[in-house]
Amino acid sequence: MEVIKIEGGHPLRGTVRIDSAKNSTVALIPAAILADSTVVLEGIPNIVDVKHLGTMIEQLNGTYSLEGEDFIIDPSQLKNTPLVEGAVTKLRASYYFMGALLGKFKEAVIGMPGGCYLGPRPIDLHLKGFEALGATIKQEAGAIYLKAERLVGASIYLDFPSVGATINIMLAAVRAEGLTIIENAAKEPEIIDLANLLNSMGAKIKGGGTDEIRITGVDQLKGTRHAIIPDRIEAGTYIALAAAAGDEVKIDNIIPHHLEALILKLREMGVDIDVFADHVIVRGRQNMRAVDFKTSIYPGLATDLQQPLVTLLTQATGFGMVTDNIYSDRFKNCYELNKMGADIKVNGNAAMLNGPYSLMGTRVKATDLRAGASLVIAALIADGVTEISNVYHIDRGYSNIEEKLTNLGAKIWREEVEE
Ligand code: EPU
Repeated sequence: MEVIKIEGGHPLRGTVRIDSAKNSTVALIPAAILADSTVVLEGIPNIVDVKHLGTMIEQLNGTYSLEGEDFIIDPSQLKNTPLVEGAVTKLRASYYFMGALLGKFKEAVIGMPGGCYLGPRPIDLHLKGFEALGATIKQEAGAIYLKAERLVGASIYLDFPSVGATINIMLAAVRAEGLTIIENAAKEPEIIDLANLLNSMGAKIKGGGTDEIRITGVDQLKGTRHAIIPDRIEAGTYIALAAAAGDEVKIDNIIPHHLEALILKLREMGVDIDVFADHVIVRGRQNMRAVDFKTSIYPGLATDLQQPLVTLLTQATGFGMVTDNIYSDRFKNCYELNKMGADIKVNGNAAMLNGPYSLMGTRVKATDLRAGASLVIAALIADGVTEISNVYHIDRGYSNIEEKLTNLGAKIWREEVEE
């Protein structure tokens, strides 16, 4: 099995360039199949989820290629093929093909999506949205069957501003007849990125980034070029990492506005961060005060940064409590951090720490993507060598992580070891 090994204790210094947003990319690729000609996504991140989505494009008789950082999708010969096994089960975002295929062909058959286990992750709001647009839904043998005679615009109120449901409904509604209004929509930056791509393909979407999105359906969508926004979660991870292990690190190619809640929290802890138009500079490894964190929807503190921040809190002095209001079971990294010397108590959707704790290198497991990031940060500050297994989780969301960390002065490498 492949593991990442990190020898801790080497202070980091230099610049890290953040790649494009995973959670935009995984929506933009399925969105591209709605076009009748070539869509080019500029700045594609080098993550495994992209390969799986590319495989699904091929299963649908589309083609894709990579030229430098351009991801080129040709959906002109697309056929509506059921996506029930293989790549579809490898990531959560494969369910965006439901909305896109329903929009394009008025019919879709998709296997249940994979992705990180973070507690229950129902998709009832996605399905309610499709039903409101006129689809009938059948679930059978691990697959979801969607079919509509006609898709007709509707007013849809989301009980919770779900990112996934907002995106999936947008993907179907751009090809529905008439006006769809999504109320209590998610406001994450990735929603705006998707609205921008779809609008440049010819869609008529207003209000992306607000809680009311209005979509007037169109008959046809065309190819376009679109530059993907920077990854605020990768950026936030490197900011946390620099606070924990950096002398001085520039986190470049970001939109700091997307990270305001994080930056303010870290300043409350005593982390020294200077903010510029497209980068921040973090001077880390200083005395930090423990604080409480609560995750919430955008523009609140992102749940995807909660696990990296728990690692940072292990280095802060005093009592801190971290509450995840989005996912009830996103604390598996805490048990791994405890193997390294922390003493984190997990209770329901909260974790409690009373740091600082000295961390020691040992064998740990990346139980999910952001847990992996949390352990990488821990390994960078721990004494000795940490061995992280299940690295495929990390590769789903962090492009070129060894290269980026090596450039900052970390000692990190991959090895094949016996299970
Ligand atoms: N929810 C429902 N019903 C639904 C949909 C969601 O009850 O039909 C609940 C979920 O159970 C959860 C909450 O609503 O408690 C939030 O879920 P949401 O739908 O907003 O999240 P998602 O679309 O499944 C995306 C990101 C996640 C990120 C969340 C929250 C992608 C592919 N995934 O998930 O990213 O944590 O939004 O911002 O965009 C990650 O990158 O590590 C990751 C997990």
